[in-house]
Amino acid sequence: MDTVQHVFKGTFVHSTKRGDMEVLENHILATDMKGKILFLEDAQSQARLAQKWGFDDSKIEELGKNEFFMPGMVDTHIHAPQYSFIGTGMERPLLEWLQYTTFPTENIYSDVEVAKTLYNSVVRRTLKNGTTTACYFGTIHTDASIVLADIASQYGQRAFIGKVCMDTNDVYPKYVESTEESIKETTRFIEALKKKKYDRVKPIVTPRFAVSCSEKLLSDLGQLAEENQLHIQSHISESLAEIDEVLRLFPDYKNYTEVYGRNKLLTHKTVMAHGCYLSNEELLVFKEKGAALSHCPNSNISLCSGHLDVRNVLKHKVKLGLGTALSIDHIVGNFQVNKEFDALRINLEALNSPFEVFSDISKEEMVQRFLFLGDDRNITAVYVAGRRVMPLPSNA
Ligand code: GUN
Repeated sequence: MDTVQHVFKGTFVHSTKRGDMEVLENHILATDMKGKILFLEDAQSQARLAQKWGFDDSKIEELGKNEFFMPGMVDTHIHAPQYSFIGTGMERPLLEWLQYTTFPTENIYSDVEVAKTLYNSVVRRTLKNGTTTACYFGTIHTDASIVLADIASQYGQRAFIGKVCMDTNDVYPKYVESTEESIKETTRFIEALKKKKYDRVKPIVTPRFAVSCSEKLLSDLGQLAEENQLHIQSHISESLAEIDEVLRLFPDYKNYTEVYGRNKLLTHKTVMAHGCYLSNEELLVFKEKGAALSHCPNSNISLCSGHLDVRNVLKHKVKLGLGTALSIDHIVGNFQVNKEFDALRINLEALNSPFEVFSDISKEEMVQRFLFLGDDRNITAVYVAGRRVMPLPSNA
């Protein structure tokens, strides 16, 4: 039986630790039949590698001069149902936006047929844009959230899926669950996903945020996450009005971070979105617990919520990702041997590329040009664990 699934030759760009980007020109990378990286070496060793791993020249896919591979992108915070109103409704601040735009839209996902159509678009669109891992918020509806998990798995996306929990909603009371229902349905959701035995899709415990959860719900969800050793996601300190509301609702806690911390919701598997107004004292708690922050600048600017001082977060050695940092860095994130090959093939001269390449540019300039000007038209193939998931076959 073959041991090698793919062999690629060309330029590979990745980073093995924060801050350092490595550009590996004229290299050769192979994956095994399970999509793990077997080697990434200088192409001068091609003959030796071919002999060792048993492949010949015909197996090698060679990249063009203006092409490179980079690791797949990880989106650590994405609300799948909100894709239906993307780019609109940003004239209100956070809490009003939730009341008038978000909750009424999310409520529509009680209909699984709606969920099937929209979640299908979300997963296809994010994959096409190079998101090989997504950490999704669904809605409070268990069946619709299972649909999202099914679709992510079917298209081959690596994903965490959260059935949203909220037992408090005075501003839009149609969209709420009782505390018991929220726990019962989260348990049903976790069990359903376990039974499906997906390769790369997992449940994540998802209290929406402290404003929409009672202390009992937060504490029960913390317990559930601990018992099942699950990831956790929520929002924290995104806007000043939100923080005021949390301090009003939880007078016995000294700050927002403590509301989650005392209820076992801050662990090394936690991703909290936004965090614009976290104090240094709270950042130290994040560091101590190993919890991560997901930076969402687009949302923060669109809703005029605030800004995250990224340098201060990094100074406190808190894990930080974009919209990202999911404690899966032992599996993906770069092209080290034994990691799974989640990758984007980038072509600066792809059909309909949004820019031209007029003369020879360095490999570093190639990466810059893609990062600053490129888009999905330059992503000519997307791989998750060695499987090519984009472009889809024409009949899909
Ligand atoms: N806080 C609670 N829910 C949400 C949401 O859906 N989006 C944002 N940006 N913040 C939230």
